[in-house]
Amino acid sequence: MTEKLRWGLLSTAKINAALFKPLAKSKRNTLFAVGSRSEESAQAYAAEHGIPRAHGSYEALLADPQVDVIYNSLPNHLHAEWTIKALEAGKHVLCEKPFALTLAEVDAMTEAAQRTGKALAEAFMYRTHPQTLKVKEIIDSGKIGKILLVKGGFTFTFNRPGNYRLDPAFGGGALWDVGCYPISYARSMLGLEPLEVFGWQATGESGIDESFSGQMRFPGDVHTQFDCGFRGPFRAFIEIVGEQGTLEIPSPFHAGKKSEILLVRDGKTKTIEIKGQHQYLGEIEDMADAILLGKAPHISLADSRANVAAILALYKSAKTGKVVKLKSE
Ligand SMILES: NC(=O)c1ccc[n+]([C@@H]2O[C@H](COP(=O)([O-])OP(=O)(O)OC[C@H]3O[C@@H](n4cnc5c(N)ncnc54)[C@H](OP(=O)(O)O)[C@@H]3O)[C@@H](O)[C@H]2O)c1
Repeated sequence: MTEKLRWGLLSTAKINAALFKPLAKSKRNTLFAVGSRSEESAQAYAAEHGIPRAHGSYEALLADPQVDVIYNSLPNHLHAEWTIKALEAGKHVLCEKPFALTLAEVDAMTEAAQRTGKALAEAFMYRTHPQTLKVKEIIDSGKIGKILLVKGGFTFTFNRPGNYRLDPAFGGGALWDVGCYPISYARSMLGLEPLEVFGWQATGESGIDESFSGQMRFPGDVHTQFDCGFRGPFRAFIEIVGEQGTLEIPSPFHAGKKSEILLVRDGKTKTIEIKGQHQYLGEIEDMADAILLGKAPHISLADSRANVAAILALYKSAKTGKVVKLKSE
């Protein structure tokens, strides 16, 4: 292959920076363009980061015939609208988490991907990381026996006035922002979807959940408990409890090039070292596999839909104070 896939950044979002190194190192991908709501901001951003082309509107970025893949790093309420526009403009799309804010949005995105034949995947970067794949391998090998419980959390202090995370109209809230991680971790490790969920939230002035604690019950009496929030210190962890042992993952979502997980069995702790990679490399190579080799993306659209469904059910539970059923047994 001589030509690399040319990526276009949809906005000048902070998270874009995470893709600079992997796109620069990749043999199959390259950073080619950025689109911003103003010409000045697009030009300044492109100059600062050495991006070859700058577009002063999102429409102009999508109309650029030399762009192959769009990275949708817009605030959450714009994921569906601009992903669909990008697909319809003939681009492949890697869309940030949370994939969308309603199931109707996910379905419209899925329909657009099917209609246009373009690749579409959610940018849950930790899912393609070697550490996550190793945890799944250990669980599937039966080493810790039947899984009973998955516990997890993702919290950090966040109170930046004006940021979309604090605005309900923009898909703000801790559950959308970081609760989506332990939920997706539990679902993907178990390979199951929750039957019912229950959640409590503590809301801030704007009405968004600043902290959220939730539970999910899966088939086979497997339970998940998690918390997430914008209050308190940075914490991110996963613990998976099986009948014959426990797996502790101290850094489940940002593992990087070297990490460790702990396997506890018969009172003995074994440290498993994992040779990782740049946290955001997997998701861009996964897109290249989908586009160039026709492979199904690691995270299917049905998987993204089920994560959104679980989040919506948890919000409904927190609002009503009741257990919300997702599926019958
Ligand atoms: N996977 C991860 O590790 C990770 C980490 C952080 C965030 N994320 C996700 O990435 C997305 C972006 O997060 P971020 O924190 O990087 O966002 P951010 O820095 O706040 O940037 C969002 C960008 O969206 C554009 N935008 C368009 N309409 C806007 C509006 N009405 N208000 C504000 N910005 C608007 C702006 O770009 P222009 O001015 O250039 O148009 C802005 O720079 C979110 O979906 C988030 O969940 C993922």
